[in-house]
Amino acid sequence: MNKPIGVFDSGVGGLTVLKELTKLLPNESFVYFADSANAPYGNKSKTEIVNLSANIIEFLISLDCKLIVVACNTATAAAINIMRKKYNLPIVGLEPAVKPACLLTKTGHIGVLATKGTFLGNHFKNTSEKYKDYVKIHLQVAKGLVELAENAIFEGEKVDELLFKYIIPMKNANVDQLVLGCTHYPLFYDAMLAIVGDNMKIIHSGEAVARRTKDVLMINKMINSIQHVQKLSFFASKDTTAINNIVSKLFKVGDFYPYVEIIKLI
Ligand code: DGL
Repeated sequence: MNKPIGVFDSGVGGLTVLKELTKLLPNESFVYFADSANAPYGNKSKTEIVNLSANIIEFLISLDCKLIVVACNTATAAAINIMRKKYNLPIVGLEPAVKPACLLTKTGHIGVLATKGTFLGNHFKNTSEKYKDYVKIHLQVAKGLVELAENAIFEGEKVDELLFKYIIPMKNANVDQLVLGCTHYPLFYDAMLAIVGDNMKIIHSGEAVARRTKDVLMINKMINSIQHVQKLSFFASKDTTAINNIVSKLFKVGDFYPYVEIIKLI
């Protein structure tokens, strides 16, 4: 089925998921929406996130998208169940990779960095509940990182200050698996690696979501099996400096035009 897949996030974070989707699904085209005007979603109410998500999904449906990937842990936690009831197309969501981390840990300690909204969601609570007798799960709301990413700041003093504050206590607690429960956080991978060294494995959900999306496309007979040049379109609700910066870093410029159109949905 030669229709695009819609992907959205509160901002630029979902581009880390889009990257994995484009690798695993080379025959599919994608439309990405960054709601940067309303980022961060982390501290917003459930109602606000439901309304913002509905506006974006309706926009993506108006562009003929066949499936939606909610490339945002916070929006998944707040809105995915309501969105699935409201719209008649497959919607794939994202949750922190707590399960793989619990299965991989050797020390019995895992760390999760995420937003307040994600920690409050049922997906996170239910998964953590299953492993809590065997694994100590160290939670940390990584306040400030989303704002830095939205301003295209991925390294330097401010980044290190926050990462040290959030990661060093986990290191001291013998955490060996660090779960990035927000799609913005893999954008700080290099800065994180410098802090965690060989002691911790950094895990995010991008690849798993891409596999799940492929599965859902196949189950629904929606996968595009005809080979064609992958088309990527980008839309944002605000200034495009950060998104242009990240798009040119993550994707091979030349395969498409990294042109971001600004659309205000509210
Ligand atoms: N990328 C979003 C997530 O995965 C960011 C949250 C926010 O906007 O606060 O949760």
